[in-house]
Amino acid sequence: MNLTLKIWRQKGASDKGKMVDYKVTDISEHMSFLEMMDVLNEQLINNGEEPVAFDHDCREGICGMCSMYINGEAHGPDRGVTTCQLHMRMFKDGDTITIEPWRAAAFPVIKDLVVDRTSFERIQQAGGYISVNTSGNTQDANAIPISKEAADKAMDAATCIGCGACVATCKNSSAMLFVGAKVSQYALLPQGQVEATERVKNMVAQMDLEGFGNCTNTGACEIECPKGISLENIARMNSEFLKATLKG
Ligand code: SF4
Ligand code: FES
Repeated sequence: MNLTLKIWRQKGASDKGKMVDYKVTDISEHMSFLEMMDVLNEQLINNGEEPVAFDHDCREGICGMCSMYINGEAHGPDRGVTTCQLHMRMFKDGDTITIEPWRAAAFPVIKDLVVDRTSFERIQQAGGYISVNTSGNTQDANAIPISKEAADKAMDAATCIGCGACVATCKNSSAMLFVGAKVSQYALLPQGQVEATERVKNMVAQMDLEGFGNCTNTGACEIECPKGISLENIARMNSEFLKATLKG
């Protein structure tokens, strides 16, 4: 395939940035999207030009780093995949592909397609953990019975990889699907009950402090989430928050 790429180039946080056109040739349909970006970068380096900066790590849908807005969709046109799992067979010869970074005030652009998602880290630090005694008298995990339904739902919530596609997709740049997943994975388990009240209050407070918007039930986040995190998690977070507020 021969393709035209329209890519957001921005030298640094204070640079205005602009779209720049590039051509790539002989792209195999079996390549991943990031491999296609590697081809472009090799070409740019060979021409003495600055390669396009983009985030990536695992390249197998686990780390959540490969944040790219492709043809107006977070992680591109496929469903249930991250950019690193997106294959070039989703495109055809002669296509023009537009590639932009996540756009959200709480995810400022660092360079080109790389954004700063440390706001997610700070939300996690505010309550995305449980305190467990690991000093030699740790309780066996199986000693506390957990219903299959609760275990499955907690596991589903825990599959959130913190990629930020939900924020990038939401017209309000809301992080409620992400925070809902992180609250739910503990709210459903007995191990999460000890700090439940403080957890939801602190994580929601940090989410607001970081400048994420509110949820207006559009549901776009659920559609674009590569891990299929359900809106049910937002409802659960809201009910956890209400319970915590009533407790004072
Ligand atoms: S909820 Fe989905 S889209 Fe949002 S950060 Fe988690 S995995 Fe990514
Ligand atoms: S590079 Fe890790 S999820 Fe894409």
